Amino acid sequence: MSRKILALACALSGCLGAGYSLAADDPIRVTIEADKPGATINRHIFGQFAEHLGRGVYEGVWVGPDSPIPNTRGIRNDVVAALKAIKVPNVRWPGGCFADEYHWRNGIGPRDKRPATLNPNWGGVIEPNTFGTHEFLDFVEQIGADAYLSVNVGSGTSAEAADWLEYLTTPQPSALGKERAANGHADPYKIAMLGIGNESWGCGGSMTPDYYVSQLKVFARYARNYNPQQTMQRIAVGPDSAHTEYTKAVMEAWKNKTWAWDIEGISLHFYTVVKWPPAFKATGFGEDEYASLLSETRRMNDLLNTHVAIMDEYDPAKKIALVVDEWGAWLAKTPGSPEGFLEQQNSQRDALIAALNINMFARHADRVRGANIAQMVNVLQAMIFTQREKMVLTPTYHVFRLYVPFQDATFLPTKVSAAEYKHGDVTLPRVDVMAARDSTGKTWISLSNLDPTRPAEVSVDVNGAKARGARGETLAATRVDSVNTFDAPKAVAPRPFTAKVSGGLLKMMLAPASVTVVALE
Ligand code: AHR
Repeated sequence: MSRKILALACALSGCLGAGYSLAADDPIRVTIEADKPGATINRHIFGQFAEHLGRGVYEGVWVGPDSPIPNTRGIRNDVVAALKAIKVPNVRWPGGCFADEYHWRNGIGPRDKRPATLNPNWGGVIEPNTFGTHEFLDFVEQIGADAYLSVNVGSGTSAEAADWLEYLTTPQPSALGKERAANGHADPYKIAMLGIGNESWGCGGSMTPDYYVSQLKVFARYARNYNPQQTMQRIAVGPDSAHTEYTKAVMEAWKNKTWAWDIEGISLHFYTVVKWPPAFKATGFGEDEYASLLSETRRMNDLLNTHVAIMDEYDPAKKIALVVDEWGAWLAKTPGSPEGFLEQQNSQRDALIAALNINMFARHADRVRGANIAQMVNVLQAMIFTQREKMVLTPTYHVFRLYVPFQDATFLPTKVSAAEYKHGDVTLPRVDVMAARDSTGKTWISLSNLDPTRPAEVSVDVNGAKARGARGETLAATRVDSVNTFDAPKAVAPRPFTAKVSGGLLKMMLAPASVTVVALE
C-alpha cells in the first residue's frame, strides 16, 4: 500500500493516537522548554469579528424576537451556546469597512422606527438597523465576551463618536445617559476596546498616515470612556499587511504625544489570500493550493516581526499592543452566493490556517495582545454557518475550541528538530508546535502536522516537567478539503487522543494535515 493510501486509511478508520503502529518516516523531536516560561498568551488573541456584511449579523446572530428560530431577545440561542463553548473573549463590531459608514443613532430606539439605510460596501443591500447598539451589547453579554467597538472616523465626526461613548458609558443622568436608560439600559455599558477607524488607509477614507494621525488625536481625546468599572483600550489603525507607513506614523505620534490623548494598541490586518481578488477555491483544491495557502499564512510571522521591530524602536517597554484585528483565509466565494456576501466553505485546511496563525500570535505574546478572526458567522473564515434554523460548526471552530486552554496561559518556548514538508517550491516545517502552561500548572501542547499525506511520528521531551502521558483531542479529516455541511455536520470533528511515555519521551503519531492539542499528565 502506498504511503498516501495508508495515511488516508488510517484517518478514515480513526486509528491515530495511542496504539497506532503505522511507521512514519523522519521521527520528529520536540523539546518543550518548560523551565523558560515566556509571556502570557492574552485570551484576546481569540477574539471574533462580526461585521454587518452578508449573513454575518442578520440570520447569523440576529433573527428577531418573533422568529420561530429559538432566540433570546432576537439573538439565536444555538449560536450563543456554540460561542460560549469557545469562550469568546471579545467581539469586534460593527465593522470593518461598514464601521466607517455606520451612524449609531440609526440603531437605537424602537426597532420599528429605525431607518432603513444602505450597505454600499457589501452588496449594496438594505441595512435595517434592527441590530444596533443595545442588541450588540445584549449579544456580547449573552456569550460572556467583551465589546470591541469601531467608531466611524471615515464619514463620521468626533462629536458623533464622543456622543456614542457618552451614551454607552456614562453613569450620570446626562441627556445621553437618560436616553440610554429610556431605551432600556439604566446601567452604563462596559466597552473594553475602541477601534479608532478601520483601514483608514483604504475603505476607511484613503487617508495619508499624517492625516490619519491628526484624526486619531482628536478622536482619542473626545471618544471618552466614562464607566469607571471598565478600562477601555483605544486601538489606532495600523498597518495594512507589510506596509509600514502607518506603523511608523502612529508610533512616532504616540511617542511624542501630549497629555491630551493616548492609545493602548494599534491594529494590523492581514488575510491569507495569495493575490487579489481572492481566487483560491474553498473545496475541490489540490496540493498546490493547499501548500501555497499554508505558506502564505506563514507570512504573518514576517509581518509580526517587521511591525514589532518598528514598535520596539518607539516603545521598548511594549506598552502598546499589536492587535491583529482582521485575519484569516479569504477564498473565492461559494458558487451561487450573493456578490459581496463573502461566503466561503471552511475545510480542514482552514483548521490548519487557524492553528498556524494562533501559534504565531502566541510566539509574539509579549506584543500581540489581541486578534480577531474574520469573521464569526457565515462570512470568510467563519466559526459557524447557519441556514435558517440550522447551524453547523466549522473545522476552524473546532480549533478555537481545542485552544481554549491556551487563553491566558503562559507561553513555553519549544524546539522542533528539522523536518520538512515540501511541495513544488513550497517548503514548510512538517510539524508546527506551540506549548503553554495554564493557571493550574498544567502544560498544554498543540501540534499541527502540515504534511497532507504523511503521518508524523513525534517524540516530545519536556525539560523542567515530568510527564506520565498526555491526553487531549485531535482534529483530522479524510481529505484536506473535508468540510462540515448541514447534512453531515460532524464530518470533521475532534476525537480523543492519548499519548504514552516511552524511554522518557512522550510518543505520538499525528495524522496527516491534523491539529492535536494535549495536556501533559
Ligand atoms: O472582513 C472584510 C473586510 O476586509 C473588512 O470590512 C475590511 O476591514 C477588510 O478589508
